[in-house]
This record gives sequence, C-alpha cells and structure tokens, in this order.
Amino acid sequence: MRLLSLLCLLHRSATHTHSPSLFLRHHMATAAEPVGPSNTKLGWIGTGVMGRSMCSHLLKAGYTVTIYTRTQSKAESLLSMGARWAESPKSLASQSDVVFSIVGYPSDVRKVILDPASGALAGLRSGGVIIDMTTSDPSLAVEIASAASAAGCSSVDAPVSGGDRGARLASLSIFTGGDETLVTRLTPLLNHLGRVYHMGGPGKGQFCKLANQVTIASTMVGLCEGLIYAHKAGLDLSNYLNAISTGAAGSKSLDLYGNRILKRDFEAGFYVNHFVKDLGICLRECQNMGLALPGLALAQQLYLSLKAHGEGDLGTQALVLALERLNNVSLESGSSKSLSEGKN
Ligand SMILES: *[C@@H]1O[C@H](CO)[C@@H](O)[C@H](O)[C@H]1NC(C)=O
Repeated sequence: MRLLSLLCLLHRSATHTHSPSLFLRHHMATAAEPVGPSNTKLGWIGTGVMGRSMCSHLLKAGYTVTIYTRTQSKAESLLSMGARWAESPKSLASQSDVVFSIVGYPSDVRKVILDPASGALAGLRSGGVIIDMTTSDPSLAVEIASAASAAGCSSVDAPVSGGDRGARLASLSIFTGGDETLVTRLTPLLNHLGRVYHMGGPGKGQFCKLANQVTIASTMVGLCEGLIYAHKAGLDLSNYLNAISTGAAGSKSLDLYGNRILKRDFEAGFYVNHFVKDLGICLRECQNMGLALPGLALAQQLYLSLKAHGEGDLGTQALVLALERLNNVSLESGSSKSLSEGKN
C-alpha cells in the first residue's frame, strides 16, 4: 500500500517516534514522525513569481530542497538560500521524498511529472509523493494519480489561491485533491505555504481552483467596470475604492489590485496568459458538463483581447485596459485633477 510505503520511508530516517498524530488513528502501523525537515527531503519544480516565494518558505523552515526550473537564472535567489540544483525533474525526484511542482501550463505539468525520460515520476522512489500546485486540468490530476499509484507512489493536486502576496506572506489557500489521510499527513508541510482545504479525491483540488477562477473572473470585470463608471462620473478613484472597500462591494480582488490599477502598476502577480489558460480549462469543462456560465465566457473574451494587444505578460489587473479601450477612456486622464474640479 502506497501510504504505508511513504510511512516506512519517513520512518527509516526518523530518530524519535513520539507523536500521537491524527494519522495513527487511521493506521495502526508503525508510529511515524510527522513530516519534518529531519526526515523529509523536498524537491521543487518551477520558480516563477509564485514558486519562488513558496519554495523560500520551505527553505526557511529548515528543509533540504532540491530545485529544478527551465530558466536557471530564475532560481538564483533560492540557490543562494541553500537550495540544491538538479539537472532534470527526474534527477531532482531521485533525491526527494516529496516533489512539488508549480509550472505554467498543463502541458508543462505533463512534461515535468510524466515524461518517461526526464519526468519526476521516473526518478521518484517507491513511497514518494508528488504535489502538483499548478492550476491544471482535473483530468490530468487524475491521470497523474493513477501513474503515481502504478509506480508505488502517490500524488496530491494542490493548486493555490491568494496571488503573489499570498505566496509571499504564506497565506495562500491550498485546495487539495487526493487521499485524505495523506493530505492530513502533509498538512504541516503545506502549512508553511498557507491553509489547507481537502476537497476530495484526485482532481477535486483542481475543480475547486477552477470554480475559484470562475468567481474571480467576474469579480475582476466588476471591479474594473466600477472604476470606469466612477471615473466617467467624476469621482476621485482612490476615495471611491476606499469607500466601497468596507461595504458589500469589498473583495480580496479589490484589496489586491485596486491600488495597483490606480497606480497603473500592471506588473504580473498573476499573468494574463495564465488566467486565459485557466479560464479556457474552465470553459472546456463547462462544455463537458453542459454548463452555461456567461459571466465566465465574457471575462475570458475580455482577457483574450488583452492577449491580442500583446498584454499577456501583464498581471490580471490589466483587465482595466480592455475596458478603457472599449470606452475610449483612460482612468489616467482624470487622476491628476483634484476632487473639486469639474469634469466634462
Ligand atoms: C477618443 O478619445 C480621444 C482622446 O481623448 C479623443 O481625442 C477622441 O475624440 C475620442 N473619440 C471619440 C469618437 O470621441
């Protein structure tokens, strides 16, 4: 049984066994220490905006972490914190008990985890665990879970929400899909990154993240439309955002992105390109489910228009640009005027 092999693996290097963990109530097998820096070696694949912050928390918590990323220069800050470098996901996995991945697209997930020649699963010892934190296809998460199981390993899909700030502050929401006992066992590890929610079996973490993206998509449209409206109506936008933030229109999206929009700071915490990918996965799933979500479709079309204007590498808050173009207005034009000045 895969869970037990994980246990044995962890137990092998454990020095003390004293913790009456929740785990023991489910399995009367050998007492095992909770996952910790002394008994669990980590691998980390993908050091983009999110991955870099997240991985740094695990290094700071004292874990031995081996990293792999497509562009080695993006890993320098982590290497200087003591992370080790691996030449491939496979080589990384051969040095790890638990392998994390957070990469761009489902095709990247497939490559770094399932590629027979260089993928992580090919290098992972029996009993190892793969945690994919990329927002990806639920069906791919199920496929990875089967492949892991066939290799005597296990996997958890664990996409996150909370943006670059959540990653930096270790306050992410982590939506997990996989064996519940395993997720419970991994929770102390994942708690270095944020709060863990178990949503069900393989793929259910991804479904939760996609529903999360459906919600955010229309929230962002609402936030940007409200700003365009307030601007046209001659309101001071900073004052406006401050006023609505504590009322029913307040939201995490407003807190995260409102001021960045006013400052024309479109740097990516979360890339438009990645959001278009997520919304595309959602729409395909909707098609499979026979589900009509017009708000999602509208948001996806607006975000696609950003890509068409070469703005795919901006952050999701750049949605305001699409609405500015639709209306031939710019929030910028009024920002220097004082409150008392009239508008035409
Ligand atoms: C669009 O905005 C520009 C710049 O403010 C302005 O010069 C132009 O007249 C506007 N177009 C229309 C049709 O109002």
